[in-house]
Amino acid sequence: MILFWVPCVFILLAGWVSGEAITATGTNFTLTGDNVSYLFQIDPTTGDIISDHFGGPADDFVPPAYVFSNGWNAGLATKRREFPDIGRSDFRLPAIHIEHSDGSTVSEFTYQSHEIFAGKPTLPGLPSTYGTEDDVSTLLVKLYDNYWDVSAVLSYSIFPHYNAIARSFKITNNGTRNITIQRAASFSTDFPNLDLNMIEVHGDWAHEFNRVERTVDYGETTFRSTEGFSSHLHNPFFALVSPATTESTGEAWGFNLVYTGSFAATVERFSHGFVRILLGLNPLHTNINVGPGDIFTSPEAVAVYSSQGLGGMSRSFHDLYRNHLSRSGFTNQTRPILLNSWEGNEFDINETSLVKLAGEAQELGVELFVMDDGWFGVEYPRNNDSLGLGDWTPNPAKFPHGLKPFVEQVNNYTVRNTSRSLKFGIWVEPEMVNPNSTLYKQHPDWVMHSGRHTRTLTRNQLVLNVGLPEVQDHIISSVSRIIESANIEYIKWDNNRGIHQQGHPSDDYAYMLGLYRVIDNLTTTYPHVLFEGCASGGGRFDAGLLHYWPQHWTSDNTDASDRLTIQLGTSLVYPPSAMGCHVSAIPNGVTKRNISMEYRSHVAMMCGSFGFELNPSEMSEDEQKAVPAIIEQAQAINPLVLSGSFHRLAIPDKSNWPAAQFVSRTGDQSVVFAFQQKATTKPSVPPLKLQGLDSKARYSNTLDNGTYSGATYMNAGLNIRFPTGDYKSKIIWLNRQ
Ligand SMILES: *[C@@H]1O[C@H](CO)[C@@H](O)[C@H](O)[C@H]1NC(C)=O
Ligand SMILES: *[C@@H]1O[C@H](CO)[C@@H](O)[C@H](O)[C@H]1NC(C)=O
Ligand SMILES: *[C@@H]1O[C@H](CO)[C@@H](O)[C@H](O)[C@H]1NC(C)=O
Ligand SMILES: *[C@@H]1O[C@H](CO)[C@@H](O)[C@H](O)[C@H]1NC(C)=O
Ligand SMILES: *[C@@H]1O[C@H](CO)[C@@H](O)[C@H](O)[C@H]1NC(C)=O
Ligand SMILES: *[C@@H]1O[C@H](CO)[C@@H](O)[C@H](O)[C@H]1NC(C)=O
Ligand SMILES: *[C@@H]1O[C@H](CO)[C@@H](O)[C@H](O)[C@H]1NC(C)=O
Ligand SMILES: *[C@@H]1O[C@H](CO)[C@@H](O)[C@H](O)[C@H]1NC(C)=O
Ligand SMILES: *[C@@H]1O[C@H](CO)[C@@H](O)[C@H](O)[C@H]1NC(C)=O
Ligand SMILES: *[C@@H]1O[C@H](CO)[C@@H](O)[C@H](O)[C@H]1NC(C)=O
Ligand SMILES: *[C@@H]1O[C@H](CO)[C@@H](O)[C@H](O)[C@H]1NC(C)=O
Ligand SMILES: *[C@@H]1O[C@H](CO)[C@@H](O)[C@H](O)[C@H]1NC(C)=O
Repeated sequence: MILFWVPCVFILLAGWVSGEAITATGTNFTLTGDNVSYLFQIDPTTGDIISDHFGGPADDFVPPAYVFSNGWNAGLATKRREFPDIGRSDFRLPAIHIEHSDGSTVSEFTYQSHEIFAGKPTLPGLPSTYGTEDDVSTLLVKLYDNYWDVSAVLSYSIFPHYNAIARSFKITNNGTRNITIQRAASFSTDFPNLDLNMIEVHGDWAHEFNRVERTVDYGETTFRSTEGFSSHLHNPFFALVSPATTESTGEAWGFNLVYTGSFAATVERFSHGFVRILLGLNPLHTNINVGPGDIFTSPEAVAVYSSQGLGGMSRSFHDLYRNHLSRSGFTNQTRPILLNSWEGNEFDINETSLVKLAGEAQELGVELFVMDDGWFGVEYPRNNDSLGLGDWTPNPAKFPHGLKPFVEQVNNYTVRNTSRSLKFGIWVEPEMVNPNSTLYKQHPDWVMHSGRHTRTLTRNQLVLNVGLPEVQDHIISSVSRIIESANIEYIKWDNNRGIHQQGHPSDDYAYMLGLYRVIDNLTTTYPHVLFEGCASGGGRFDAGLLHYWPQHWTSDNTDASDRLTIQLGTSLVYPPSAMGCHVSAIPNGVTKRNISMEYRSHVAMMCGSFGFELNPSEMSEDEQKAVPAIIEQAQAINPLVLSGSFHRLAIPDKSNWPAAQFVSRTGDQSVVFAFQQKATTKPSVPPLKLQGLDSKARYSNTLDNGTYSGATYMNAGLNIRFPTGDYKSKIIWLNRQ
């Protein structure tokens, strides 16, 4: 009896655990995470989906708020809705907007059925979060528009231990005429009448991820990218917070689109005070034809909830993305310390000069030598940025024997103090072309263009239309040829302009499906190659690319003071383990600021991928001497960056003494980065209160060599004395006793 009984319990228990995350009582649905509940229901009279609750734990459905309705505002306008359309009394912006064959844009999706299961299906052709049946559960809500024969299936997946919900939807045209999708917000929900602030990150080239916070007021607030890519201007992320929310306390809801193309994010507060959120495709770039029998799949959006402030929200995103978004085998691996040839040499490179540079890199202790722009082009040698892009063949004047013997010479160096070969990596920008190129002369129709409108150049280049299958195949074969031509172990994949002329507004969506096909193919075929995304810096630092590539270059601005703001801004949603950060020469190329080697390296060590972007022979002797110890320190810190939890202790916008902390996964170790921006005589440095420690445990520290309880570090804090001067920094280790 007992022998039979025991396995039975295990099966029942497993079923119970995964089933518990999503329950349906009739058509009242509850998604339950460790610290979050998401409740909605089908309105029995209209068949519409009504939002009930998204926030801290809640067990029951309570009657909704009474809304005074009148001849103007009635019906659906008075409801909190999960998948709003327009044209049937709701005057707010819709999540779905379809133009039908007769030009009408009224839709009427009503509930048909639902399905609940453990696990999560993949999204065809699009990046998405993933997990096993133990990690995630999914609810499909099936809706149907009987008038037009169009079906909509909403997919909600909850990762209970991350307090995260991923949503996407599919539209199937079951009718006999084409339909056109005009708007598609992957995530949409209506909050009750609450006072909320909205936080987003805006920026530009060399100025990414600046935090901006504003009150959610009556009317719409929209930010978007129409650049064809997620872009530097805004990121497809925003948070709603209670006005009193801080880094470590209060409610925060974060929303992030898992997508690399043009997007729009809208928060709309309506007359009754309800707050609608919409995050999805940019309607200006959405005009997607769905023929009879065809299916449109929206990108996925992820929402997380935290009652522990913005920090709690960020840590949910970081953990979810490292464990259930990024699928690169490098995600959990220590990344090689790299040196990039660009800032030292720009286009002036050849086999001889780069082998010499690789030798200098080797002497510093670098593990990966990266050759940047300038190495390719036969008919149109890439000696400057006006030619050659698109022609991915080594320039015979610079590499007379091709890449193979050159890379062998680089690999012939061993990493200082080890027997490992110096690795070699290369730069590409395969989605772009110069008109001065063999590729463009052969295929002028392969670039994004609109009839005979001028094809406007920026940085002397045009964008290939990656929505075209022949362009996808061309990129796959060009990049494969490079990878197979020599021992290439790293690729920096750049992308340096926005899209101007699109032949059709939905070319951008088709481009993204094509791009994902290309990089899915290459990362699957070459799992040993470490890919780093780059788009003039952080222009495509998004969850879409992080599905395939483990890291992204954070900004072309390597000024350490500016970088601190940029990196802490990026960390609102993306994990520091996914950031590429390098020490560059001073005066800084962008800001002309002079900041010490110590501070520059401390800022760069807070990232998963640490490196140098300078000419070693131009470093001072003191700087050269400092490098081996810096590399040793970066290597010691890297495991905490890769898998630890990250806490922003103070941000540069609000404090002259910004600081951040990583706590190891086991909680036994922590490393604190503390900075002083400007020298001051007054006031004194505020106590640095740490986070994420065990209150009862005792930890030694390397600042004053004391041993204190976690509670002391978190509530009383450490007192740091910085040396006098601007841009001073300290790294402090804590070890559990
Ligand atoms: C669903 O929730 C509503 C309250 O919002 C409640 O009136 C109704 O009885 C619930 N339905 C079921 C089947 O529990
Ligand atoms: C979140 O849930 C976990 C597991 O149920 C619990 O240990 C923790 O205290 C909760 N945190 C908060 C802030 O409620
Ligand atoms: C819609 O079309 C799909 C695909 O042809 C089919 O599987 C589904 O049953 C249809 N749905 C309805 C409600 O007719
Ligand atoms: C209808 O859709 C099909 C399939 O996408 C497409 O080939 C056709 O051109 C469309 N027709 C019109 C009139 O847009
Ligand atoms: C990274 O490690 C985490 C935690 O062990 C694991 O859940 C995740 O699957 C790993 N990611 C990859 C891409 O290997
Ligand atoms: C390689 O480049 C260096 C630096 O510009 C230059 O001095 C040298 O002459 C070049 N060698 C060849 C073979 O072109
Ligand atoms: C760019 O390089 C080409 C080929 O070497 C050369 O003809 C041209 O003058 C250069 N242009 C600039 C702006 O330096
Ligand atoms: C082509 O290259 C030449 C030489 O560098 C340059 O003068 C010209 O401006 C380039 N044309 C374009 C369209 O970039
Ligand atoms: C690698 O180094 C060895 C020993 O110095 C040398 O014999 C060999 O020619 C080198 N190979 C290449 C490709 O540089
Ligand atoms: C590493 O090598 C350098 C010389 O290349 C040497 O001075 C140093 O002691 C070595 N460090 C270790 C830890 O072996
Ligand atoms: C990659 O694409 C090529 C050609 O486009 C195809 O032959 C190959 O099977 C694809 N590989 C993978 C892993 O998708
Ligand atoms: C802490 O200990 C280290 C190593 O023993 C020593 O170098 C340092 O001076 C000590 N610091 C203080 C503040 O006592």
